[in-house]
Amino acid sequence: MGITLGLVIDWFPTQGSEQAKKIDTFWDVLIICSVPVFVLVTTVVLFAARNFRMRPGEEHLDGPPIHGNTRLEVVWTAIPAIMLVALCTYAYLVLHDIEKAPAAGNERQITAMGQQFTWTFDYVENGKKFSSAQLYVPQNESVKFNVKTKDVLHDFWVPAWRMKIDAVPGITTNYRVTPIKLGSYPVVCAELCGLGHAFMRQTAHVLPKAQFNAWVKKMTTPVKAAVPAGGGAAPAIDAKALFTQGETQTGATACGACHKLADAGTAGGVGPDLDQVLKGKDAAFIHESIVNPDAEIAKGFNKGIMPANFGKLLSQPEIDALVKYLEEVAGK
Ligand code: CUA
Repeated sequence: MGITLGLVIDWFPTQGSEQAKKIDTFWDVLIICSVPVFVLVTTVVLFAARNFRMRPGEEHLDGPPIHGNTRLEVVWTAIPAIMLVALCTYAYLVLHDIEKAPAAGNERQITAMGQQFTWTFDYVENGKKFSSAQLYVPQNESVKFNVKTKDVLHDFWVPAWRMKIDAVPGITTNYRVTPIKLGSYPVVCAELCGLGHAFMRQTAHVLPKAQFNAWVKKMTTPVKAAVPAGGGAAPAIDAKALFTQGETQTGATACGACHKLADAGTAGGVGPDLDQVLKGKDAAFIHESIVNPDAEIAKGFNKGIMPANFGKLLSQPEIDALVKYLEEVAGK
């Protein structure tokens, strides 16, 4: 019954990668092997505790003299040893299999850079480098993730893909994944890394190849210059929409998710209330607060909560528009 229960419970999210199938099968085998051992050991312990417990009047007795049973001891040593060796061998084979490089050679590499408290994904596509705050990968193609960190330990994990590895200061760790299911899945930091750990969440999008290529094209096409040729007004960037929805080219998180701002109607409480902290501040201060948020920290808040990668993720015109907007609605 324990085995059935163990197998029936839906422990994991959807099997989003080639690796997930093999890992889940391995999990099922572990359940089948370990549940009987657990039930047997627990039963023996409970039985012994109930039947051989000390009774009133036996306080000064030593209990009956018992000599070991050699045959029993050989059996209870040999069976677990054989099981352990067998399971370790199986685990090794699965690990070897899921870490194999694809036969076809040229494999996509993406750097997942962790920092308090966000991931930045660095791509090289068709010889062009670019960064994104959201992860995009094509379906059915192996990706090698190089995982790094700018500050403390993080852990790069997409539960639907099962693979998970620490981002360790000073070194690059990696794993491979072949996403097989289209859709959007949470990216989670799985190593306690500070106050904003719980907010270190992004999204992995698995796209059909054609859509992925279109996204790469969009990302590698430079953002239009703020001032069009021939002068005239700059094409309007809707700074308020940027603030509330984060509709930037790179998918940077919306400011309003964390900040309260009356004009934008946002109520986020993770970061300071901008109507208060920006009162009387000039454009230079606002600019600094966006691109280098730890330079000056509002009272009652901590360093490192606001990701320091907005300067990289937002285009120059987007930053300028945000600064101008914030100065108008909150600064003066
Ligand atoms: Cu990064 Cu937890």
